[in-house]
Amino acid sequence: MPAGRRIVLGVSGGIAAYKAAYLARALIERGASVRVVMTDTAQKFIGSATFSAITGHVPVTGLFDQEDVSPHTSLGQWADAIVIAPATAATISRLAHGESSNALIATILASTAPVVVAPAMHSEMWDQPSTQANITTLRDFGYTIVGPETGPLAGGDVGVGRMSEPYDIADAVFGLFPTPDMAGLSVLVTSGGTREAIDPVRYIGNRSSGKMGNALASNASNRGADVTLVTTQEGPQDAALEIVRVETADDMAKAVWEKAPLVDVAVLAAAVADFAPRNPSTTKLRRADGAPKIELVATPDILAGVNESNPRPLLVGFAAEAGSLDAAAAKAAAKGVDLLVANDIQKTGSGFGSVTNEVRFIFRDGSTRDLDLMSKDDVAARIWDAVLQLRSES
Ligand code: PMT
Repeated sequence: MPAGRRIVLGVSGGIAAYKAAYLARALIERGASVRVVMTDTAQKFIGSATFSAITGHVPVTGLFDQEDVSPHTSLGQWADAIVIAPATAATISRLAHGESSNALIATILASTAPVVVAPAMHSEMWDQPSTQANITTLRDFGYTIVGPETGPLAGGDVGVGRMSEPYDIADAVFGLFPTPDMAGLSVLVTSGGTREAIDPVRYIGNRSSGKMGNALASNASNRGADVTLVTTQEGPQDAALEIVRVETADDMAKAVWEKAPLVDVAVLAAAVADFAPRNPSTTKLRRADGAPKIELVATPDILAGVNESNPRPLLVGFAAEAGSLDAAAAKAAAKGVDLLVANDIQKTGSGFGSVTNEVRFIFRDGSTRDLDLMSKDDVAARIWDAVLQLRSES
């Protein structure tokens, strides 16, 4: 997030209110200006002086007792984003019903800024149908809900309802803004699975949906990069992307090799057929003619070609492994990539077609990093983070 973002921190009354002070600090450390608005009950858990000291501004605590005649509209219009932490069941309910009975809710209603909500309450309160319905309403409003987590609660109880940690909430706030940390970079992404014709009807293909590659292209574009996506699938709806549609490994090789010397980074996430029919039939093969003998020939190794291009972009390859990632390290070394992203396509939630993926990063020096199962969007963000890190080190 660029420095200077203006964040309104809304604090409602729960024991987790003390953590809001750490959240204010975390937001400021990342370059944001923070103003606080507190409910009456919040002030029973933490003093407004704490927030004055951290943010350099006296919190808004009411609609009428302030110097500003209209504190809620001033704050609401000032905000680039609003985060409520902790958000109690009562505050969530007021918010869901548009009850602007205090300065916190009035500020949100007087604003068009995106809202992050970090619930905190006892498990029973969280599980109530009314609370769950209110949370669904807030999600429908487009609010981002962070947590709650499972852990120790007030009074020594343990369960779901614990407010997320301040740094995780800060991450969610920063996530609201596209980070232009890839501005000025040109990147090439391949995506989808190639189709190699057997005849005009049939082809040799694979299960790639293009989701992983699309996530890479979107994330890079949101972060300010110039993106070319060479894909066999529909690309994301983003006018800023240059999308080159291809079908076969040959088509993909041609498009990729032409572009590779012109970009800073190439990430090859496509599942490319290694073999294609040597002589695809120009007419439909007939069952009556018996099972055809299909001779296969190797397709171009697109990644190897990019590796030899001059100038050579920073090169990220993928490895689709089945059953274990043990063979991926040798593949990384053999392919000569700067980073290999290995996924086990037989693992639940990973590989082809899923919206999530669990990957291992294998770097050129042989070091590895295992990532948890996460959305493909998050995997994509981590890949670009790693790419930026590699570029800063070279
Ligand atoms: O599209 P999704 O449904 O979201 O699925 C994502 C994915 C599983 C396709 C993706 O995460 C993935 O693993 N992509 C690589 C698939 C693959 O072909 O892996 P491989 O181990 O066979 O190939 C290794 C690398 O060489 C890959 O970067 C591949 O793009 C490249 N390659 C392969 C063959 C070839 N002829 N030329 C190549 O450049």
